[in-house]
Amino acid sequence: MAKMEVKTSLLDDMIGVGDMVLLEPLNEDSFINNLKKRFDHNEVYTYIGSVVISINPYRSLPIYTPEKVEEYRNRNFYELSPHIFALSDEAYRSLRDQDKDQCILITGESGAGKTEASKLVMSYVAAVCGKGAEVNQVKEQLLQSNPVLEAFGNAKTVRNDNSSRFGKYMDIEFDFKGDPLGGVISNYLLEKSRVVKQPRGERNFHIFYQILSGASEEFLCKLKLERDFSRYNYLGLDSARVNGVDDASNFRTVRNAMQIVGFMDHETQSVFEVVAAVLKLGNIEFKPESRSNGLDESKIKDKNELKEICELTGIDQSVLERAFSFRTVEAKQEKVSTTLNVAQAYYARDALAKNLYSRLFSWLVTRINESIKAQTKVRKKVMGVLDIYGFEIFENADNSFEQFIINYCNEKLQQIFIELTLKEEQEEYIREGIEWTHIEYFNNAIICDLIENNQTGILAMLDEECLRPGTVTDDTFLEKLNQVCATHQHFESRMSKCSRFLNDTSLPHSCFRIQHYAGKVMYQVEGFVDKNNDLLYRDLSQAMWKANHSLIKALFPEGNPAKINLKRPPTAGSQFKASVATLMKNLQTKNPNYIRCIKPNDKKAAHIFNEALVCHQIRYLGLLENVRVRRAGYAFRQPYEPCLERYKMLCKQTWPHWRGPARAGVEVLFNELGIPEEEFSFGRSKIFIRNPRTLFKLEDLRKQRLEDLATLIEKIYRGWKCRTRFLLMKKCQVVIASWYRRYSQQKKYQKIKGSAITVQSYIRGWKARKLLRELKHLKRCNEAATVIAAYWHGTQVRREYRKFFRANAGRKIYEFTLQRLMQKYFLEMKNKMPSLSPIDKNWPARPYLFLDSTHKELKRIFHLWRCKKYRDQFTDQQKLIYEEKLEASELFKDKKALYPASVGQPFQGAYLEISENPKYKKLKDAVDEKIIIAEVVNKINRANGKAASRIFLLTKNNVLLADQKSGTIKSEVPLGDVTKVSMSSQNDGFFAVHLKEGSEAASKGDFLLSSDHLIEMATKLYRTTLSQTKQKLNIEISDEFLVQFKQDKVCVKFIQGSQKNGNIPTCKRKNNRLLEVAVP
Ligand SMILES: Nc1ncnc2c1ncn2[C@@H]1O[C@H](COP(=O)(O)OP(=O)(O)O)[C@@H](O)[C@H]1O
Ligand SMILES: [Mg+2]
Repeated sequence: MAKMEVKTSLLDDMIGVGDMVLLEPLNEDSFINNLKKRFDHNEVYTYIGSVVISINPYRSLPIYTPEKVEEYRNRNFYELSPHIFALSDEAYRSLRDQDKDQCILITGESGAGKTEASKLVMSYVAAVCGKGAEVNQVKEQLLQSNPVLEAFGNAKTVRNDNSSRFGKYMDIEFDFKGDPLGGVISNYLLEKSRVVKQPRGERNFHIFYQILSGASEEFLCKLKLERDFSRYNYLGLDSARVNGVDDASNFRTVRNAMQIVGFMDHETQSVFEVVAAVLKLGNIEFKPESRSNGLDESKIKDKNELKEICELTGIDQSVLERAFSFRTVEAKQEKVSTTLNVAQAYYARDALAKNLYSRLFSWLVTRINESIKAQTKVRKKVMGVLDIYGFEIFENADNSFEQFIINYCNEKLQQIFIELTLKEEQEEYIREGIEWTHIEYFNNAIICDLIENNQTGILAMLDEECLRPGTVTDDTFLEKLNQVCATHQHFESRMSKCSRFLNDTSLPHSCFRIQHYAGKVMYQVEGFVDKNNDLLYRDLSQAMWKANHSLIKALFPEGNPAKINLKRPPTAGSQFKASVATLMKNLQTKNPNYIRCIKPNDKKAAHIFNEALVCHQIRYLGLLENVRVRRAGYAFRQPYEPCLERYKMLCKQTWPHWRGPARAGVEVLFNELGIPEEEFSFGRSKIFIRNPRTLFKLEDLRKQRLEDLATLIEKIYRGWKCRTRFLLMKKCQVVIASWYRRYSQQKKYQKIKGSAITVQSYIRGWKARKLLRELKHLKRCNEAATVIAAYWHGTQVRREYRKFFRANAGRKIYEFTLQRLMQKYFLEMKNKMPSLSPIDKNWPARPYLFLDSTHKELKRIFHLWRCKKYRDQFTDQQKLIYEEKLEASELFKDKKALYPASVGQPFQGAYLEISENPKYKKLKDAVDEKIIIAEVVNKINRANGKAASRIFLLTKNNVLLADQKSGTIKSEVPLGDVTKVSMSSQNDGFFAVHLKEGSEAASKGDFLLSSDHLIEMATKLYRTTLSQTKQKLNIEISDEFLVQFKQDKVCVKFIQGSQKNGNIPTCKRKNNRLLEVAVP
């Protein structure tokens, strides 16, 4: 079956055990193995009850996304796999819903992930609490206080590139709805020695490097700084650059954060001026100068740096210079001034730098608090987040005053842890009505007492030493310790009278050892007194107070001579003790939530799990004891409802539903399962299980049962699925069948309907036809009756009227009608007669068909009549001309191309006025007959084809040719000798006059002539010949004919010629036998 997506318990899909309380068997090895197994599977969080163990993964895991935040939001603590968000959610919800102030205590050694954890808690709370512009601004300011404090308070150490060098406790305040209102930050003991000296491989506080890398040239110049780490003695050089850390960009982040938190521009400026001054202080160097009293006095080597510091901070240079050379001691009313040697001068310089920086840091915290403090006076709910340094144990007795203080703080935290956890446990038992059995556990109150007891405590004795007049050294302090604490069972020293450690060579003489709850720590006593005193010469604080720089002035209020206080300021130890006491008091009023951070390796590397290192940490964190304490009573507890819900399938009565109170259900369940009675106990709202084994047995049974149930569910599901499928198929089958039946019935019905209609239509047709027949018959009968009746009536009528008619009346009527029609026809014709012009083709339309032939005949007669009428108008002269024209038409129409042109020309005959013209008098005299034609023609020369003009005369009996000029007759041919006239069919005027062979005229040969009036001449020749000889003259029309020339016959041929000579035909002799006439 698929993996369940929704988890309902951290027991689901657990890697190892998610809650160490359930670990079986419980010992150090199994504890570490479980952690390792989970770490290897990226499970960095594990619970001990409600305590979260966090192992630093040293790489980013995808488990802090907004989706994860949503997943853990409003879920029960044990519902999902262990996570820091689960703890944050639990804390936030009980703060909001149950009105319980919360504190989140994060412990672990340096680099274990405390600061990251505190940030995760804050960001989770910020993500789930209320929203809105104002709330968001508060959130933003709270979150942005981190980068500022980290820049000034964190440094790279060998353990952690971003190690917090101060303790931090932050109260976040909420209103009744759970919206953030503001916050208060408390800081504890900044490791200020770092300002002047850093261990090998470590750096000074980040801010120094950030300024030098990130500030603009202009800003650096203003601060009188140079962008070169090596210029400054206070900056450890061997690891000035850290991999993966971009100081320049971090500087911008810090400035931005300062702005968001609410720093004014001039405040930011002042802060950086102080930082610059501290940095430059380290560059001041001293040299010894002998004095008259034989003692060495220190003098500043190079005053340039001093001058710049004084310019930067507004301090009078001479005052500061003097403060580095003299020290004024005031006792009662006296003031004694002593000179400082070089070592003392360096000490004073470093003290000043450390004080400046640490006071600046405290001022920053105060300033941030001012910005983020809640603006209302309403009652607030508080969630405190404590990110404090964990146990610090250096090898080889390198532990000094700082470690002592830190470890003391952790001892106190352990104390409160024990108190609160046990108290909580106890309270829960009482609340649930379970009998409380006493649990043996180690209470470290005794160690706390060793340190903080007001009379015999180590801190008290240190203070006593510091205040004691006379020479005070670290050794005198140790001596005193050895006396007072010798009998204390957690104190060890070789000086001790107790002989136990006299021979313990592992314990040097200058050291003492304390058996902390987390292990033995050996402290080197050197420096304790000094560090506790935290001495700053009064001359220096006064010089600072006099500075013309408001921030520096404010940092050294004790420098004010008006408020001079001869009482010593509280020692560092007592200050710390007091602030820890306040913190503890504060924490005790709150509901604690623990995050215990563990560092898996020393290399800051991912995936490496150093078992020895982890073992060491779980030992001193007392985690195993933690589990034991938790398990001493009952290892596991759970409210009844979820318990019943989880295990109800293990018993028939409770499965699948238990109707009744959950507690009764759980009782039935546990009785049924036969779990021994001493193994569990019924509280008011929870079941308590004593041994983890019992729980695991339950889990195993559940797992087994779940498998069975899965099989069962699968079985039922499969059955159900098959059945539903079967039912569905059955249903489908019914539907299909019904549809099919419907379909086939429809088809059948349609067929029957169709047949019925066909039959019906046949019947109807048959019926209609029968009816029609009957009707037709009836109609015919009626008609026949009518006809018979009509005939009958006719007969009757004719019989009746016969006596009134004559025998041939019909014919008479017919003829009469005909006559009338004819009459009408002719009358109409009279009116419609066309014109008398013979060429008018109009003729009225025929009115009656029977008159067709009459009509045509009438048309013909009319035409003839009007032609006759036309002809009757002619005179004899005209008649002759028309006769001639008619003759010409008969002869040449459609034969000679010249003919149509001649139709319009009137035939004149006598073109030459022979009788009138005196020129032709001789000719007239020679011819006494009537002249029919007198005209000039061209006679073609037979030798060369050239033309010569002749007068052509036709008389009743002869044809004459005469010279045109003289009028002398050249030839005279009687008409009877003319046999033939030849001409072409073309448009020319050539013609040949053939003469009878053997006649007198023929001796010179035929004439070949050309005339402009050929048609007229030929026609007249023909007529005259006909009337004289009663013979028809042969007129030959051909394009090739022979002409007799003397003995020879020459062929005259007409061809289509060019139009070179205009329209005149040309004649050419080609050879002896051929004369060619070219007709255009
Ligand atoms: N939950 C985490 N996920 C990823 N990296 C972490 C986580 N916690 C710590 N680290 C890494 O470890 C380094 C040290 O953590 P930090 O919280 O500064 O330690 P501490 O405050 O305990 O000295 C961080 O700079 C970060 O690189
Ligand atoms: Mg830290």
